Amino acid sequence: MNVLEIANLTKSYKGKKVLCGISLSVGEGKILSIIGPSGAGKTTLLRCASLLEEAEDGEITLQGETIASSIGGKAAYLPDKELSKARRAIGIVFQSYNLFPHFSVLRNVIDAPLTVLKEDKREAREKAEELLVMIGLENKMNAYPCELSGGQKQRVAIARALAMDPKIIFFDEPTGALDPKLTAQMSGLMRSLAMNGISVVIVTHEMPFARDTADEVIFMENGRIIEKGEARKVIDTPEQEKTRDFIWGSER
Ligand SMILES: Nc1ncnc2c1ncn2[C@@H]1O[C@H](COP(=O)(O)OP(=O)(O)OP(=O)(O)O)[C@@H](O)[C@H]1O
Ligand SMILES: [Mg+2]
Repeated sequence: MNVLEIANLTKSYKGKKVLCGISLSVGEGKILSIIGPSGAGKTTLLRCASLLEEAEDGEITLQGETIASSIGGKAAYLPDKELSKARRAIGIVFQSYNLFPHFSVLRNVIDAPLTVLKEDKREAREKAEELLVMIGLENKMNAYPCELSGGQKQRVAIARALAMDPKIIFFDEPTGALDPKLTAQMSGLMRSLAMNGISVVIVTHEMPFARDTADEVIFMENGRIIEKGEARKVIDTPEQEKTRDFIWGSER
């Protein structure tokens, strides 16, 4: 079953079309990577797909539930209450991490499970500790975000997203703050999330990372999908001229 399905999504800012009819789907435990030049609309697509922002028109289905449908040329969304419920299946790790600066690492991770999911405090703490061990930050549990490096903050943001048991998790340029070794670890972490049945959507500018991490790659430009297919195929042997220019242009 597809965890996420998007059809004919459009979005404009100040009258300028940024997404021009995007359709895609992400299967359970699958990793989709979105690549494309700066300004292509990748972050906008992530924001709409993760329900941070409303699309203008189009359809969104999450775990078989219709979240938005196209009615009279406009996207009609579920009422707020049901939308909030649907959002619980979604994890988001964006570039600005948005950690709470006045909370310790541990508190950052357990806050939402306690306040939103009303989890038992001991249970939430145990789960958070396990997640911090998994991402290699158990020794930073009591540190504050300002005491962490960019890559460490990002890993806390990942633990925080995972603490909510998402069905799908969205990453915007997850390797930007990472050295090559941590980038390889990030790839491994994403593969293990997928193996545990979590769907992953990654926007990245790193072709080798997309190639080695994702099952499927979408290349977009000017708000449109130009090419999509199996990750290795799209990156190694792109079919479209525009994709070739983008992937190989910098190497020539
Ligand atoms: N909040 C906003 N208000 C107005 N215009 C916006 C807004 N957000 C994005 N845009 C415009 O939408 C277009 C797509 O932006 P978006 O951030 O989605 O691109 P991107 O593919 O993520 O680029 P990058 O690789 O540089 O992150 C750009 O032209 C941008 O200027
Ligand atoms: Mg972006």
